[in-house]
Amino acid sequence: PRKIIIDTDPGQDDAAALLLALSSPADLEVVAITTVAGNVPLSLTTRNARVVCEVAGRREVKVYAGCDRPLKRQLVTAEHVHGKTGLDGFEVDEPTMPVEAAHAVDFLIETLRAAEPGEITLCTLGALTNIATALEKAPDIAPRIRELVMMGGGFFEGGNITPAAEFNIYVDPDAAEIVFKSGIPIVMMPLDVTHRVLTLKRRVDRFRAMGTRVGDAMAGWLDFFERFDVEKYGSDGGPLHDPTVIAYLLRPELFSGRACNVEIETLSPLTVGMTVVDWWQVTGRPHNAHVMREIDAEGFFELLTERLARF
Ligand code: BDR
Ligand code: CA
Repeated sequence: PRKIIIDTDPGQDDAAALLLALSSPADLEVVAITTVAGNVPLSLTTRNARVVCEVAGRREVKVYAGCDRPLKRQLVTAEHVHGKTGLDGFEVDEPTMPVEAAHAVDFLIETLRAAEPGEITLCTLGALTNIATALEKAPDIAPRIRELVMMGGGFFEGGNITPAAEFNIYVDPDAAEIVFKSGIPIVMMPLDVTHRVLTLKRRVDRFRAMGTRVGDAMAGWLDFFERFDVEKYGSDGGPLHDPTVIAYLLRPELFSGRACNVEIETLSPLTVGMTVVDWWQVTGRPHNAHVMREIDAEGFFELLTERLARF
């Protein structure tokens, strides 16, 4: 199996991504989950990561807490999307599995240094604060990372927290800039992809029909998450952003895109956090990311449903 570290701010869609990864041990080995502040403050994202592990019956997964605020800015959160806990929609007991003692940034540095070069893939589902902090402290880790697959940004689709910016990049644009300049091979799942995978009722019903705790949790979380987006997206479902990252590792043929240059706006008050994607190759700036644009939405939901039914 391919070794991955998932850096996340759960979040119902992050939860779907974690479950998809944990459902597929023959393909993916989840070395650890690292948490970051984003959708809600760090204490809650760290709680929620453990909630998901416990729902999955995987209390042995290692969870490391990371940065509690962006590099240079005040934290912006999204309770309006994810609810007060960040993971509203399904009743759970408070998690009892441990949080590892080390800071996520130190864990990332030590693990990448100890692994063979190219052994570890990073999957990022939130702001890039932990990764950027690790790169600043230990620039030698960059060439050791096999690939960084992120949910973040948007180009033809625009933004979701401002007209120009997608939430994960907006929360910490300075961190995103460091990551995009790092030379790590990046695969980017922007809103252009994630807005194509909507949690339609017929899709969520299939999770509920599993009659399992994971199926019930997924249905409850997605019903809650959807409530926010129904009016906005004019459909009976909201976009299921983060599991596209894991789906890409399992079934890359579901996606298509192209290699581009991507730069991050960090200065303009109007467009801060914008991912400036040179899709038409008009600048001659070097390619630094593989930017996805298309997804086979039915294939994606088939994969997610089939894998979650394994719990
Ligand atoms: C991203 O923002 C978060 O609210 C979601 O979990 C996802 O990672 C979408 O813009
Ligand atoms: Ca997220």
